[in-house]
Amino acid sequence: MKLFVDTGNIAEIEALAAVGILDGVTTNPSLMAKEKEDPTAILRRICEIVQGPVSGEVVATDAEGMIREGRELAAISEHIVIKVPFTKDGVRACKVLADDGHKVNVTLIFSATQAWLAAKAGAAYVSPFVGRLDDIATSGMHLIREIVDIFENFDYATEVLVASVRSPIHIVEAARMGADVVTVPPAVIEQCFKHPLTDIGLEKFLKDWEKAQAARANA
Ligand code: E4P
Repeated sequence: MKLFVDTGNIAEIEALAAVGILDGVTTNPSLMAKEKEDPTAILRRICEIVQGPVSGEVVATDAEGMIREGRELAAISEHIVIKVPFTKDGVRACKVLADDGHKVNVTLIFSATQAWLAAKAGAAYVSPFVGRLDDIATSGMHLIREIVDIFENFDYATEVLVASVRSPIHIVEAARMGADVVTVPPAVIEQCFKHPLTDIGLEKFLKDWEKAQAARANA
């Protein structure tokens, strides 16, 4: 399963890329709005750092506007994936952009039929939002299971990109269900590195080592 980070923050992306575990990046207008720099410059820099799929989202709501913005985004770098919202116009824009050879990520997916329609329109990725479904007492991960099953049944090439991830448990469940990608906020990736038994274990290893060194030196 591929790991994308869900942020528009260059420092966070640089830090994770340096660890060597990052396959791609997703951004959205809310994430970009938090950053000071020009969005085009940010996307260009992210593409240089990661050299993998980088989703940049359109803000137009009509198909023609989305197609125009999508082409502008794609001109930034070969790594850009054009992100469009799941609306009828978004699906139309997806079809045109995909037919032109662009990679499209259809976002704001909250049902299996939406995912299926996006796949039919040639989406490279669909982004079901699991956390936002959980927030309204509906199982986000149940939706992932449905979409993975449907795409497998019909051999759709569209990848299931699990979005709106809130905890490491979402990541484990996504991997067990065979999702293709998870896009994870930096804070949740950080949680995955932490385990108190690892910290305690390492502390003990180092203390034992120091004790043995001191004993050898005094022998
Ligand atoms: C996906 O591509 C979105 O950017 C993101 O995962 C939304 O997550 P949120 O519900 O935490 O805003």
